[in-house]
Amino acid sequence: MNTNGIKKIAIVFVLGAFLAGCRGTTSEKTPIHPNMNMDQQPRKEAQEENNFFEDGRSMRQPVEGTVARGFRKADLAYYEGVDEDGEWIADAPVEFTQSFLYRGKERYEIYCTPCHGITGDGRGIIMTGGYGYVPAPTFHQDRLREAPDGEIYSAIYNGVRNMPSYAHQIKTEDRWAIVGYIRALQASQNATEDEILEFDVDLDELKAEYETEQARLAELQEARTASQGEVVATAERGKQVSTEWACQTCHSLDGSVVIGPSWLNLYGSEGQVVTADGETITVTKNDEYIIESIVNPYAKVTEGFDPLMANAYGSLSEADLKSLVEYIKTLSDN
Ligand code: HEC
Ligand code: HEC
Repeated sequence: MNTNGIKKIAIVFVLGAFLAGCRGTTSEKTPIHPNMNMDQQPRKEAQEENNFFEDGRSMRQPVEGTVARGFRKADLAYYEGVDEDGEWIADAPVEFTQSFLYRGKERYEIYCTPCHGITGDGRGIIMTGGYGYVPAPTFHQDRLREAPDGEIYSAIYNGVRNMPSYAHQIKTEDRWAIVGYIRALQASQNATEDEILEFDVDLDELKAEYETEQARLAELQEARTASQGEVVATAERGKQVSTEWACQTCHSLDGSVVIGPSWLNLYGSEGQVVTADGETITVTKNDEYIIESIVNPYAKVTEGFDPLMANAYGSLSEADLKSLVEYIKTLSDN
């Protein structure tokens, strides 16, 4: 081949190489980068060993007293919902404007309704029974109406007993927006007729809606009872119901106290309870008492315990309740 031929082939190759480089993709890098010196400077990776320092680590402690800009959460009330003594703050450190509450409503409906329900009554879709979840409590009870804003905030930030923390999903400002919205829900479900009439609402329509809902729930319960047919109450079935309703999350079987009293030797024992009127009385823990404790947990609260059992078991069928009693009986020598 003559030199001309070689030149031609060389040109075709060089052109080809250039064209292959132009495939329509974009790049952040400079196109020509012949000197890589500055790209490869000596440096240490995180956690890498470094014998230069006495402790053999390449990562250094920040100088004492260093404050990371933008990361110091000094405002305890705002970030943790507590004052300097660690007590929950009574009032949120933010202003509950209308738009802020609407933000809270939106966030609440995304994150909290599956368990706490759209009105905060604890009847979220996954709480409708028997799926092994600890029921979420209703917000419409004195204990939570009177709870300081900081305590509600803390439930979102830290989680509470069986409820996980939502700190990672929900940012600080939104947590307060949700607190505000829960306050609004509580007010909405605890208003007198006169208060309601101050607003432009149709009270009769609301009442009708309420009755329809109650009828629907009663139907559900009836259907559940009917679908079980003639169920005989047995301890074995009681154990199963207890699992389906996650009772052992709070009640141990071995005498230890988890959140509620242990079921060991509960049946037939005598103990003090505080009635709804605040009176302390002695009761024998028989069938009737146990069923009442389940269906209406705030009627008689076991002394020494907080009323933390959710009022959520009213839809258990009679056979299920009796089975629970049978099961609790087997755990007792009384
Ligand atoms: C996966 C279900 C679930 C979700 C989602 C959930 N919760 Fe809860 N929540 C619970 C349960 C269960 C409890 C009761 C825990 C217990 O007593 O062991 C509870 C308890 C609470 C309490 C009562 C605390 C107390 O002192 O008794 C508050 C307040 C609360 N939740 C707020 C919220 C808010 C606000 C959200 C949304 C950001 C939320 N929860 C999302 C299940 C849930
Ligand atoms: C979130 C925790 C929790 C769950 C879940 C729970 N309980 Fe409770 N329970 C308590 C607490 C706290 C008490 C004591 C305060 C009170 O009487 O309300 C209690 C009290 C009781 C008592 C009375 C005990 C006594 O010594 O007087 C019975 C019976 C009972 N629960 C049955 C049940 C059954 C059955 C289930 C499941 C269907 C259940 N509990 C689920 C927390 C819970």
